[in-house]
Amino acid sequence: MSEPLITKAKEILNGNYREPGFTLPSQGLYPFQWNWDSGLIAIGYANYDMERAQNEIRTLLDTQWKNGFIPHITFHRESNTYFPGPKFHQASLHPDATTRYKTTGMIQPPVIGFVLKELLDRAQDKKGALEFTRKVIDKVYENHLYLYNNRDLLGEGLIYIFHNWESGTDNSPIWDTIWETMDSPRYTFERRDTNQVDPSQRPSNREYDHYLALIDLAKKYRYNDSKIAEHSPFLVQDPLVNALLIKSNQSLIKLYQICGFGEDKIRQLEKWQALSIANYESKFYDEDLGAYLHYDLRNKRKIRMLTSSSFVALFAGIPGAKRTSEIAGILEQRFGGEGLYLCASFDPEGERFDPKRYWRGPLWINVNWMLYHGLKSYGINKLAEQIRSDSIEVVEQNGFYEYFDPRRSIAKEGKGGYGGSNFSWTAALYIDFILRES
Ligand code: DGY
Repeated sequence: MSEPLITKAKEILNGNYREPGFTLPSQGLYPFQWNWDSGLIAIGYANYDMERAQNEIRTLLDTQWKNGFIPHITFHRESNTYFPGPKFHQASLHPDATTRYKTTGMIQPPVIGFVLKELLDRAQDKKGALEFTRKVIDKVYENHLYLYNNRDLLGEGLIYIFHNWESGTDNSPIWDTIWETMDSPRYTFERRDTNQVDPSQRPSNREYDHYLALIDLAKKYRYNDSKIAEHSPFLVQDPLVNALLIKSNQSLIKLYQICGFGEDKIRQLEKWQALSIANYESKFYDEDLGAYLHYDLRNKRKIRMLTSSSFVALFAGIPGAKRTSEIAGILEQRFGGEGLYLCASFDPEGERFDPKRYWRGPLWINVNWMLYHGLKSYGINKLAEQIRSDSIEVVEQNGFYEYFDPRRSIAKEGKGGYGGSNFSWTAALYIDFILRES
């Protein structure tokens, strides 16, 4: 029954593929290469076209800066359908910025470490895949070294972000608590996203003012991390970003062992891992809410709201047995209540829950994919299977959208697909859910 949709998913990826070897997330809305999109898209390709999967990663790693930083967007070409473009970002102000590409000066969730492992696991030609891993693995390690050396302000093994776009969960209600502390100027600019997507599904103009103000602040300090850390009103330790770093550390350790080199790097990764996991547990876990929360480093407080990021620790194998069952319980009861597909991106019982708007409620296939694998690794199979079948169902009923209404009544009628259409990671991870897991 899924066969025609696999064909459709592959057509979407083909249609979004561009030279020199990357797949844009969605035509018009996101016309360049995005960092974590590329990683997740490569996992889909790895099921049927390993060369493309590897190219996607190679192209991304080629944009790496001298200091190990890997940018969130690489502007491989001009486009008038996206704002803010390279002229606004001016990442070349940083002395280590790549001179070969125009990029942004911010990070995205560090997925490439675990993606390399997923690629190797799916490879038919293990020898070839291992050769690829050997060639690129040090670049990913250098990226982790950059993150720990520049973004771990207190030496806790927990990295900070200075912009909501670094989190991947771009307009989560979490960030409202930061906007309330900021008095950003009102910018005059032309939104390009809302020419393509219903504005009720996108961030507001006022939110864009804050997004631009933070980029202007970074530019003022030439994207210097310690200056940004000193002055930015947005300085957050994010449970999704840090869980993915921990997951990627873990994969890098395994991959170096398989490759048979990098003993010193394994030792360093193990040190980071011990510190990061211990502090992730003690700093992010909230006994009352029963899950992991964001920490606002600037204002020294936990942000006491549940999001789908609160559960991604499962994917990184972080919680022990007791916490695991608490988290799985909250996930199942509060996010998977009657009438809801798993997993809403924001607490369905929260005041700011909005089932239509970007990261303020809709379900995302990428987070579902992580939750599925996390739950499986703990043997919580029934809930894992529910997440997988919910993911497949919303796509089959609504199409390959960027995000989906978690309300069954809406999504079941095929009216629940929002944001960009023909969305690459939705197609890629749908392929992975079907081909890898069946
Ligand atoms: C956007 O423009 O909304 C992007 O998601 C930023 O990464």
